[in-house]
Amino acid sequence: MSALLLAITRWDPTLWAERFRTLSPGRDVRVWPDDVGEPAAVAYACAWMPPQGLLATFPNLRVIFSLGAGVDHLLSDPSLPNLPIVRIVDPDLTMRMTEYVTLHVLLHHRRQRLYDAQQRDRLWRDHDQPAASEVSVGVMGFGTLGRAAAAMLSRLGFNVAAWSRTPKAPTGIELFHGQDGLDAFLSRSEILVVLVPSTPATEGLLNLALLRKLKHDGALGGPVLINAGRGKLQIDADVVAALDEGSLIGASLDVFPIEPLPSESPLWSHPKVFVTPHNAAASVPRRLVSYVLSQIERFEAGDALDNVIDRTTGY
Ligand code: NDP
Ligand code: OXD
Repeated sequence: MSALLLAITRWDPTLWAERFRTLSPGRDVRVWPDDVGEPAAVAYACAWMPPQGLLATFPNLRVIFSLGAGVDHLLSDPSLPNLPIVRIVDPDLTMRMTEYVTLHVLLHHRRQRLYDAQQRDRLWRDHDQPAASEVSVGVMGFGTLGRAAAAMLSRLGFNVAAWSRTPKAPTGIELFHGQDGLDAFLSRSEILVVLVPSTPATEGLLNLALLRKLKHDGALGGPVLINAGRGKLQIDADVVAALDEGSLIGASLDVFPIEPLPSESPLWSHPKVFVTPHNAAASVPRRLVSYVLSQIERFEAGDALDNVIDRTTGY
């Protein structure tokens, strides 16, 4: 049986290797960097942020699996072999992201930071609470994760719209697309939830000029940014500037241009910011390995792979 290589940095590969070996006992599972063996035997690479150049050293590689939903960590490698790249699309990962988005929309909507501060001061004071239906949420990215988050927020009663690159069939949610639809989408969105991939077209998208276009006269009293897409989308200094000038009243950031977020970043201690360590939707081996193995089975049976990314768009 062809060998499978785990090429993982930032995460511990141990649980991935254990899970692959448990669910596919006959498979030759190798773990970079200590146990690579004969490179010619490796047909499948399961990767998360592999070192640049590594995947080009396996002459018989046939499929590359991203162990996350995003593939920017692979496409940034100029020597990446021209092979199918399959990404994670799985209900477990999707539901984790829906939890994160719902939690953070509600933290801002229900003014949790304010009540935390009041609790510290033993202050018993309530504030006007808008209904969810009075708050407009804009979801940037209407793919697997954006659709699931938008559906949950709609069920909670928020006034939800979404923005994508290409037009979509009507879904019951107000839809915008492309550069032409961007300003109209922003001007109706008080909470902006960002779930677009990092590509050459989206880098630096979340800049001061864009943040100033969000809806300022809504029920929350100002716009909120929630970015769980990718750090390269956002200019950190512009997010801080927008918060300080009042173009944003709050932010939840799970991803950053430099990760881990440097200790000197003002975002760590900004009173209006929630910081999480890029774990809005973790890839959990016990939930995801069966998906990868089922794709390998399909491939070996001569069936088409699912969720192969398009290299021309970068996602
Ligand atoms: P999908 O590919 O299913 O969806 C991507 C969406 O973004 C699509 O609607 C696409 O438009 C839209 N999009 C892409 N480029 C543009 C553009 N230039 N302008 C407007 N819209 C654009 O991806 P997923 O929903 O599965 O994942 C989205 C991203 O979430 C991942 O790429 C990753 O970066 C991030 N992520 C973060 C995690 C975390 O823990 N923080 C965990 C998992 C993922 P169209 O529909 O027209 O193609
Ligand atoms: C992913 C991620 O892309 O965790 O899945 O960022």
